[in-house]
Amino acid sequence: MASDKSNTSKYSENTMWGGRFSAGPDAIMEEINASIGFDQKMYRQDIAGSRAHAAMLHKQGILSAQDAENIDQGLSTILSEIEAGDFKFSRALEDIHMNVESRLADLIGSAAGRLHTARSRNDQVAVDFRMWVRDRVDASIVEIERLMLTLLEKAEIHTDTVMPGFTHLQTAQPVTFGHHCLAYVEMLARDKSRMENARERMNECPLGAAALAGTGFPIDRHMTAQALGFREPTRNSLDSVSDRDFALEFISAASICGTHLSRLAEEIVIWSTPQFNFIRMSDKFSTGSSIMPQKKNPDAAELVRGKIGRVNGALIGLLTVMKGLPLTYSKDMQEDKEGAFDAAETLELCLAAMNGMIADMTVNADSMKAAAGSGFSTATDLADWLVREADLPFREAHHVTGRAVALAEERGCDLAELELSELQDINESITDAVYSVLTVEASVSSRTSFGGTAPSGVRSQISYWRGQLKST
Ligand code: ARG
Repeated sequence: MASDKSNTSKYSENTMWGGRFSAGPDAIMEEINASIGFDQKMYRQDIAGSRAHAAMLHKQGILSAQDAENIDQGLSTILSEIEAGDFKFSRALEDIHMNVESRLADLIGSAAGRLHTARSRNDQVAVDFRMWVRDRVDASIVEIERLMLTLLEKAEIHTDTVMPGFTHLQTAQPVTFGHHCLAYVEMLARDKSRMENARERMNECPLGAAALAGTGFPIDRHMTAQALGFREPTRNSLDSVSDRDFALEFISAASICGTHLSRLAEEIVIWSTPQFNFIRMSDKFSTGSSIMPQKKNPDAAELVRGKIGRVNGALIGLLTVMKGLPLTYSKDMQEDKEGAFDAAETLELCLAAMNGMIADMTVNADSMKAAAGSGFSTATDLADWLVREADLPFREAHHVTGRAVALAEERGCDLAELELSELQDINESITDAVYSVLTVEASVSSRTSFGGTAPSGVRSQISYWRGQLKST
């Protein structure tokens, strides 16, 4: 192997595509054109794609055994150089594809130029980016499952822990904290399935579409698709090099998942205020104030809440880049990567931070219970009792209960603290059996409808999710 270490010696930007150009690019042109600053992240995928392509070219008789061997060896050396931090990326060489190819020429000489037979950077970048996104989808699924398990553990511990359920952030009806945790397990399960779904669709290999029209060389696209872990090759060469919907689907799944995380983050912020005092964040995920010594701020939760803005921004950014582009490839599409990279990193970080926060937080069951019983949270139970036991139409029961609430409010007490005679003044069919439904525990235990908050129901939902997560 020839070993000229300088990365631009033989293959400058002009030898890559510069046959018809008489002058090099303007400095500003180089700056706007280069993507190596960010697409070097895809070096592993780029090298894997090239190795699969070279092996296929050889099998199809397009590349000699010697050249194929040298190319493969050279690419393997480049992979080690990059991983060791020994690779000098050059902006003049624009992107990861040409940086790698140029270094290959340094290492093995002119045979490097044969690698690009029956291929274009258009299908090369499409396959690299697809593989990169596919890896991030897999990593996101792992993080989502991890968070689901952590929430499931909390739900198990707090199956019977009562807390107020809210609508409009006003106390509505008592629920259990376990039930609340399982609400997020449901959301995350859908997030996971959106990722899996997107993965299924993106798992077709665009390599071999060449510039846009396919190639006259007798390539075997099924072979490269298989070598790179794809289900099959894409069926239309124009579509292969021109769509980025796989990235859009990933970012949009990330946005939806991030939206769920931001809601949980917001709840953590609210629950950890001294006014609520439902949970205590561990020191590992909080910070203090430099001026107010009493403060413990839920920064990690606030950052999860805030960082989702970046993911949403990436989604809108890429939708806007792709909107209205004529087929097939346009250089606009080089703008597909940075947002997607950032969205993936942000989502994974937020999932991990949320996992740590949930695992480490302390639940203050007494505060939750006290709050669960305030705000006349069992008023619906009184109305339901009147329907069931006194055969009142629900609307009338609602009205009677409203009067009881008004009386309790006036007296400054809870519903359960009203005298039986006072209740009977409002409706004579009320008996002292009503008191058994006015506690928060009785309230939650009675909600046994499928999907309801009763601890018995929560327990069966937990075993459902245990089974689901074991089978993945
Ligand atoms: N760096 C380019 C990108 O990310 C690679 C594809 C370039 N193709 C081209 N025809 N100029 O989109």
